[in-house]
Amino acid sequence: MASSTLICETQPWKDLKSHVEDIKKTHLRELLGDTDRCKSMVVDFDGITLDYSRQRATPGTMDKLYNLAEAAHLKEKIDRMFNGEHINSTENRSVLHVALRAPRDAVMQSDGKNVVRDVWNVLDKIKDFSERVRNGSWVGATGKALTDVISVGIGGSFLGPLFVHTALQTDPEASKCATGRQLRFLANVDPIDVARNIAGLKPETTLVVVVSKTFTTAETMLNARTLRAWISKELGPSAVAKHMVAVSTNLTLVEKFGIDPNNAFAFWDWVGGRYSVCSAVGVLPLSLQYGFTVVDKFLKGASSIDQHFYSAPFEKNLPVLLGLLSVWNVSFFGYPARVSMESNGKGVSIDGKPLPFETGEIDFGEPGTNGQHSFYQLIHQGRVIPCDFIGVVKSQQPVYLEGEVVNNHDELMSNFFAQPDALAYGKTPEELQKENVQQHLIPHKTFSGNRPSLSLLLSSLDAYKIGQLLAIYEHRVAVQGFIWGINSFDQWGVELGKSLATQVRKQLHASRVKGEPVEGFNFSTTTMLTKYLK
Ligand code: F6P
Repeated sequence: MASSTLICETQPWKDLKSHVEDIKKTHLRELLGDTDRCKSMVVDFDGITLDYSRQRATPGTMDKLYNLAEAAHLKEKIDRMFNGEHINSTENRSVLHVALRAPRDAVMQSDGKNVVRDVWNVLDKIKDFSERVRNGSWVGATGKALTDVISVGIGGSFLGPLFVHTALQTDPEASKCATGRQLRFLANVDPIDVARNIAGLKPETTLVVVVSKTFTTAETMLNARTLRAWISKELGPSAVAKHMVAVSTNLTLVEKFGIDPNNAFAFWDWVGGRYSVCSAVGVLPLSLQYGFTVVDKFLKGASSIDQHFYSAPFEKNLPVLLGLLSVWNVSFFGYPARVSMESNGKGVSIDGKPLPFETGEIDFGEPGTNGQHSFYQLIHQGRVIPCDFIGVVKSQQPVYLEGEVVNNHDELMSNFFAQPDALAYGKTPEELQKENVQQHLIPHKTFSGNRPSLSLLLSSLDAYKIGQLLAIYEHRVAVQGFIWGINSFDQWGVELGKSLATQVRKQLHASRVKGEPVEGFNFSTTTMLTKYLK
């Protein structure tokens, strides 16, 4: 495929376009009756089982998707990513988050430099610092140990670390290491969030980690200044050196803010904000909470998937399979969303050509059976939304109550196994008639079924598995982007809102401080701003 050819102009895409019309005539009930087909759709790797037999696909579909992958030069693009080429072409950068979890002796180059060495210098620094904070040899301004950490950051500088923290909190090994410690995250700029974060904490026992790739993000910097004032007010300005550290690619701005550069933990422009959890962005706050040894296991889990993604054949490659099936669902079935626990969603190809197809789905999800009690009505009888079900064989916190039919984890997992079949098979009016359901209720109790899902069964949920899970989903995004021919690693789409907010911020300042009238906005915004300023 010539680089300027859109993927939708290639023969494999056209083949899939006509193939989908055949598949639309087949119900998942029939597909699930074909044992050979189902057998070919179960893949195991390092304690993770993927079952994609409830996708509206046949082995023939998969072959066509592999042809599409070839037409999109998927393997070459994966190689180019691992080789540190500037595949983020709109920002002229390498995309090397895989180097963040590479073994110490690995070599990965960006612009002729082995970045793995830099990564391990920072990891060693985090290990040393977090051990000193945890064992009380690094103390606050009044000599007390720092038991509580507030990580200030937003977007990729928040969500990844929060995800890992949420999962580790209940892992027996990790939680034991966190005894007596607290980790909180301050992201939103609403003053309510500041109040919630500092509630019950004392500056003298709190360490603030300011996490910002650019060190310019308005929300993060305002929250950081607010916490700096909170510390200074109680302990004096000199206490900041002991109570605030930073994670950033912009060490000059860190120093300007008043944080000692020795207490800054670097990362690099080849780490996209949304792929940064394995850099100091996640590793520092998580090591402070759980200790570096636990976090190192998380990095090793992610690295296991990196190796697998790089080398496994497509038919056995978990992120590739997930990515291809997403492309199938979005671009050929036109399903708009996916339930699962991103910088796709572009309007133009990597060469800037407008795209006549969608390049992303809206992801949403819920833990456990919470979804059943909120949006499952919609996914069973309303819109068709492909689902990912993620379950674990062994609970982190098993509960066995005497007299119960099954233990709590089995109760949870009953739903993990039942829901995909309910979505796939549905329930026909004939089945309802046989069950003597009243005639007038039959339309309400009928389920069309034929709704695709895939299931990932993990042997356990510990730091290593969390790392694997994270890397699978990171690489799925890349696979989708590589196939669609878009840049999954930039995000110009968030810039317009940010720059308009800057304009409003200037106006609010001018009106409040100098009494200047609101001007330069449309009627609606002027009216609302005037009301707000009154
Ligand atoms: O607005 C999106 C974004 O740029 C993300 O990519 C990033 O993770 C987040 O904002 C925060 O940016 P920073 O880490 O530079 O503060």
